[in-house]
Amino acid sequence: DRPLTFLGIESSCDDSAAALVRHDRDGARVLSSVVRGQGRLHAAFGGVVPEIAARAHAEVLDLCVEKALAEAGLDLPDLDGIAVTAGPGLIGGVLAGVMTAKGLGAAARLPLWGVNHLAGHALTPRLTEGLTFPYLMLLVSGGHCQFLIVQGPDRFHRLGGTIDDAPGEAFDKVAKLLGLPQPGGPAVEREAQAGDPTRIPLPRPLLDRPGCDLSFSGLKTAALRARDALVAEAGGLRESDRRNLCAAFQAAVADILTEKSRRALALYLADRPERPAFAVAGGVAANGLIRARLADLCEREGVAFVAPPLLLCTDNAAMIAWAGIERARAGLPPDPAIVARPRWPL
Ligand code: KG4
Ligand code: ZN
Repeated sequence: DRPLTFLGIESSCDDSAAALVRHDRDGARVLSSVVRGQGRLHAAFGGVVPEIAARAHAEVLDLCVEKALAEAGLDLPDLDGIAVTAGPGLIGGVLAGVMTAKGLGAAARLPLWGVNHLAGHALTPRLTEGLTFPYLMLLVSGGHCQFLIVQGPDRFHRLGGTIDDAPGEAFDKVAKLLGLPQPGGPAVEREAQAGDPTRIPLPRPLLDRPGCDLSFSGLKTAALRARDALVAEAGGLRESDRRNLCAAFQAAVADILTEKSRRALALYLADRPERPAFAVAGGVAANGLIRARLADLCEREGVAFVAPPLLLCTDNAAMIAWAGIERARAGLPPDPAIVARPRWPL
């Protein structure tokens, strides 16, 4: 097959991103990947504000594309196609990306592919490790938590997912209420290192029920109640209590993710895949304890454990460019009339 070089554009949440990915006989290569976070713009509001996000995306996407092209030493006419996140996500941001892609596509006469953001995450292990279909995937971040069997560029079998919060969101909330900085995951992990996970009992919601669905909101609430009780008892939050609570919370999340992963693996392995592999993506997969527990599970089951480099696990546009290349290679036609879809389950 002839080499393909794609531009990817991502703007479905609070990161504006552009990247160039090339695929040829030697495999896939990320030529450049530019990510501009909007964290500071939203910090004062305690969450992402959709209108602010949309305006910021519209302002910086062109610059991100220019930078990605410059870093790769390429111009628009060198490309074979453009892939853009068409959903799910905040509609204003997705629209900004789709309009940018349509403008560039029309100007350079390049074919366009609309990509599902979750498909981008799910296909990343093929970009970074060349995994073969089918593999099991756990997407676990501030916005997502689900198990997928990835069977093809456009074929995903969802085994289960969170019925309420994503675990990253719970890490962030717990950190906030313990006076720790955002993003909360790394801060909680740091505190947990000096804590005792057995001192404060916390629940493991849904573990007693069959299936691969997960729940984190009850755990989050229990952690906050435990904090209130400790504060009332000691007249303030003691350093040791904070550390123990972080350790207990992290251990509970790790238990839930590991047990549900064990069940998802059993369902996946029932189909006897030739080269079984379990891949993780998303910011929470950066957690050392969670990663070690999942790697341990895979070793016991004889399954390869794959965790792509963190910069490609969190939101980025290389995964979108790659998903576009996968679609083109699979013969899926370009879509000049991409429609932005705020909700779009895989
Ligand atoms: O994938 P990501 O960058 O963005 C989306 O949510 O799409 O994930 C960010 C989330 C945040 O909630 C952050 O607190 C969490 O991942 N996170 C962690 C760690 N590093 C980041 N959670 C637990 N432990 C970590 N070391
Ligand atoms: Zn994402």
